[in-house]
Amino acid sequence: MFNFIPSLLPSVQAVRRIFSMAKPQVIFVLGGPGAGKGTQCAKIVEKFGYVHLSAGDLLRKEKNTPDSKVGQLIANYIKEGKIVPVKITCGLLEKAMNETMEETNGEKYKFLIDGFPRNKDNLDGWNDAMNDKVDLKFVLFFDCPESVCTTRILERGQTSGRTDDNADSLKKRFNTYATETKPIIDHYGESGKVRKIAADHDPETVFQETSKYFQ
Ligand code: ADP
Ligand code: C5P
Ligand code: MG
Repeated sequence: MFNFIPSLLPSVQAVRRIFSMAKPQVIFVLGGPGAGKGTQCAKIVEKFGYVHLSAGDLLRKEKNTPDSKVGQLIANYIKEGKIVPVKITCGLLEKAMNETMEETNGEKYKFLIDGFPRNKDNLDGWNDAMNDKVDLKFVLFFDCPESVCTTRILERGQTSGRTDDNADSLKKRFNTYATETKPIIDHYGESGKVRKIAADHDPETVFQETSKYFQ
């Protein structure tokens, strides 16, 4: 007699989608240059179905967009290892999140935001624009000694084509990391949000540690 009821009830997935449309889930991914953020994000995407948004990749794409009003500014900041003003970066991130949600009808609502927030300007700008719109789960912190990162980046520089994968820019990027980014990681640490992973092991070992936070 009540056989018709189940078909009228929205599926669990549909209910979740309605809620998820309202609040995308976000994990920030931080660590020094060459710590392995991008490498680990690719593995998380494959195994746990997240969407990877790299702030650096989005900035490089904007930099290479013909007629971009901010392309030259971004190019200068990247070469100097400086952090681009948050209005630009946060705008690109929000646009990418919205496009993903719209294109997938809210199916894809879990985001790894890689390389952000990188300084106080990033943090404040994000909190003003996005804090109420997303559910920040935690901050993944890939902790890697500078010497290991340097070797990795200089090797990557042989094929990456990046304007900042050279010894000169790298020095500036490490300085920015130590003086501007590390305090942001510490800030999240104070509220228990940081999941720290030793990143100076082979990629599979690092991923085993990382996976624990996604089970
Ligand atoms: P990030 O995004 O943090 O700058 P990447 O993931 O791009 O770092 O890695 C930087 C370089 O180091 C790449 O060439 C990558 O292949 C290599 N790499 C990443 N993780 C490891 C690892 N655990 N061990 C050795 N090399 C790695
Ligand atoms: O994360 P990735 O190594 O790709 O970042 C490359 C550069 O992009 C940084 O050194 C910085 O100049 C710029 N960037 C930024 N703000 C971010 C992320 C990256 O200005 N939040
Ligand atoms: Mg990267």
